[in-house]
Amino acid sequence: MRVAQSVTEVVGGTPLVKLNRIGSHTPATIWAKLEYMNPGGSVKDRIGMQIVEDAEREGVLKPGGTIVEATSGNTGLGLAMAAAVKGYKCVFVMPDKMSDEKIKALRAVGARVVVTPTNVAPEDPRSYYCVSRRIADETPGAFYANQYHNQSNPKAHYHSTGPEIWEQTEGKIDVFVSAAGTGGTISGTGRYLKEKNPDVRIVAADPIGSIYYDYFHTGKMTEAHSYLVEGFGEDFLPSTMHFDHVDDVIRVTDKECFDFCRRLVREEGILTGGSAGGAVAAAVKIAERADRPLNIVTIMCDSYARYLSKIFDDEWMKENGFLQNDRLDSTVADLLGSRSSDALVTIDPDTLIQDAVGILRQHGISQIPVLDGAEVKGIVTEGDLLNWLVQGGDIDATVEGCIENRFAIVEPVNKVSMLGQFFSRDLTVLVMESGRLVGILTKIDYIDHVSRGVTPR
Ligand SMILES: Cc1ncc(COP(=O)(O)O)c(C=O)c1O
Repeated sequence: MRVAQSVTEVVGGTPLVKLNRIGSHTPATIWAKLEYMNPGGSVKDRIGMQIVEDAEREGVLKPGGTIVEATSGNTGLGLAMAAAVKGYKCVFVMPDKMSDEKIKALRAVGARVVVTPTNVAPEDPRSYYCVSRRIADETPGAFYANQYHNQSNPKAHYHSTGPEIWEQTEGKIDVFVSAAGTGGTISGTGRYLKEKNPDVRIVAADPIGSIYYDYFHTGKMTEAHSYLVEGFGEDFLPSTMHFDHVDDVIRVTDKECFDFCRRLVREEGILTGGSAGGAVAAAVKIAERADRPLNIVTIMCDSYARYLSKIFDDEWMKENGFLQNDRLDSTVADLLGSRSSDALVTIDPDTLIQDAVGILRQHGISQIPVLDGAEVKGIVTEGDLLNWLVQGGDIDATVEGCIENRFAIVEPVNKVSMLGQFFSRDLTVLVMESGRLVGILTKIDYIDHVSRGVTPR
């Protein structure tokens, strides 16, 4: 019989698959190591068994004991699988930004799950690091797995992920890219690959908001801020992150992670999650700078099934501003054309204040461009006229003294997406074509146009 004696025996040995579309515009080839094909569904299955067996050997985990861990989900599943096979109980602590699927998956394997607030500092007693530490201290027979400081974590990758990649590529690997959370994957795999060939470049993908990028490039600890992609980036330095095996840290945005994750699923059939999207986004940046064919190996940490209610839910993506609203992609000409009234009213600098007030009232508008022939002198707004009068200005004076320059000029061919930055600075937008003023746009025109591109909920 070609069988395994327990599920933990089939951890690892995951396939390495070529990406055929993503990166095909570059001289490099990007390869995806399908860690979601592990029995627990993620790269973390590798460390679950290593951590448990090392703890048993060291005598810190005894029969009937309880494994406690601060985990965003995947490590929990890896540990829970090992615990099921070996008969331990589990308590997992996770931050509340994690997807429902992850919380439910951990409860499904019989673990107790404690959810803690995301936006508190690691040293805050409510943080998931502190809560998990406290539970470990208070539970008899508890073993705190501590993936952030347990060297069994990188060791698992040194003994499995690294050798697998070296063998699968027959040593022809140029760059290894992985999302870095605890740093276990990048440090352990990186160390192994560098021992085999010091020229292999080891690159960590880091989400904007995490401290790794700044720390690596400046040596400074900056303040972390929250981001939406799950499972990687940190707000402190775990001792499992060994920068001496890392050659570069590349920053990726939430949007890049989600866009590449969706592309992996839809264009490559690689059913993976957001951190894999981040690794591939970083790999593409490297591939685009390559001047020769490179083999770039990336890690597909976990499965798309854990993100169905987030990355793969169009409503969630839209609410968080990641799905392009078609209207933002339309042009200023489309916006002008979609308005019910497009009569352009202008005045010249000799217009009297009282006449300008009359024109604003007659047309029901609150601002008006001032033209000297075809030349735009500026705009006059209701507010400017009011200030002028309040300060005792003469109603028979010309508008000259009221003209202001808080405007931006765009062309009809420009994208509507460009306008937001002007309106958020309270500028009025003037549309010019071949040196001629053809329209004026206000915030409400923009909001009206863009909101019609959003599916009502
Ligand atoms: C989805 C996902 N991606 C990436 C990582 C990062 O891996 P590592 O902790 O080995 O750096 C994790 C870690 O939990 C993860 O859950």
